[in-house]
Amino acid sequence: MKTLDYIHLDATGANKVVSGLQQLLADFQVYYTNLRGFHWNIKGHAFFVLHSKFEELYDDAADKVDEIAERILMLGGTPVNTFSEYLKTSHVKEVSGVSCGNEALNNVLDTFSLLIEEERALLKVASAANDEATVSLLSDYLKAQEKTVWMLVAFASGDCKK
Ligand SMILES: [Fe+2]
Repeated sequence: MKTLDYIHLDATGANKVVSGLQQLLADFQVYYTNLRGFHWNIKGHAFFVLHSKFEELYDDAADKVDEIAERILMLGGTPVNTFSEYLKTSHVKEVSGVSCGNEALNNVLDTFSLLIEEERALLKVASAANDEATVSLLSDYLKAQEKTVWMLVAFASGDCKK
């Protein structure tokens, strides 16, 4: 008994989507852990704003980790769940000891840039596999992430110059 038999998706196409989702899963797991570090270690005048913002971002990343893993299962795959595997696969690199707000923000923006690029590429793969549900999932991610990037860039752009 297999999910794919009931949801009418071709296994070859679904496997390609699964492989892209595994990549995204690894990237989100490392990103999540980096955000935890920023939340804990940040210092300076923007502490209260950034401490809360990083918590909001890691909660969002945790939701996505679960959604991505469950989508992998629906498509007949098995989500990777060990950090040793994530670190081998992830394009997001681990960071530690960051206490400077701008450094953390730049890291988050670089990560968004990478995630957005991967999601756009995977969206095409999912579309070619007629996997509308993954297309929709990724499309929702992109919409929210592009808005977050705009806000982070505005925040990081600093004080008004007169
Ligand atoms: Fe906390």
